[in-house]
Amino acid sequence: DHDGGYAEYCVVHENFAYALPDAIDDQDAAPLLCAGIIGFRAIRRAAIERRVRQVAGKIARDFKGQRVHLVGVLKGACIFLSDLIREIDLEVSVDFMAVASYGRESNSSGQVKLIKDLDSSIEGMNVILVEDILDTGLTLSYLLRVLRQRRPKTLRVAALLDKPAQRREDVKADYVGFTIPNEFVVGYGLDYAERYRNLKDVCI
Ligand code: IMP
Repeated sequence: DHDGGYAEYCVVHENFAYALPDAIDDQDAAPLLCAGIIGFRAIRRAAIERRVRQVAGKIARDFKGQRVHLVGVLKGACIFLSDLIREIDLEVSVDFMAVASYGRESNSSGQVKLIKDLDSSIEGMNVILVEDILDTGLTLSYLLRVLRQRRPKTLRVAALLDKPAQRREDVKADYVGFTIPNEFVVGYGLDYAERYRNLKDVCI
């Protein structure tokens, strides 16, 4: 708690996927039955809420007395962004971008394309790019390249989740909610084929 409760690393590893079934009699850890698949609540909503507050507090301290401009990456980051923005005690504005990625399967050429650009200029602003999850880093490295060309005053990255195991580009987030192992997760904005974004917990 030396920095208002914000720890640089919040790592989720032990018991992330495998030990949860043992905890089934714990009501809160019960398996989640959604649309015929059984998932497990890997990061519970209360833990997410707490961590989002810590991340927001850290941002407010880092930019004390200044305005920040949050840029959400659609669609996955929309839930994280909407919770985060309400916890940031500064003057805040918001905009969105959307990207599509190709070649995620092929191991060589992950390509990213901008499908929705910002509504307004970010020149001279304190921009915080808000991402749901940082995996290979291809999306983030593309977006940072695009945004840097537009001369923001500062450019930082907040990611709810970080999966460093698959990183292919040398990028990192300045604010990370949780560092997680290499598992595919859904919920709290994250989807599998556009489903499960509405789950309140991050689930496996
Ligand atoms: P990257 O370009 O490989 O870093 O991937 C970032 C994007 O891939 C995220 O914004 C998500 O849309 C998607 N993604 C990566 N891992 C997951 C996951 O575990 N669940 C859902 N989406 C994911």
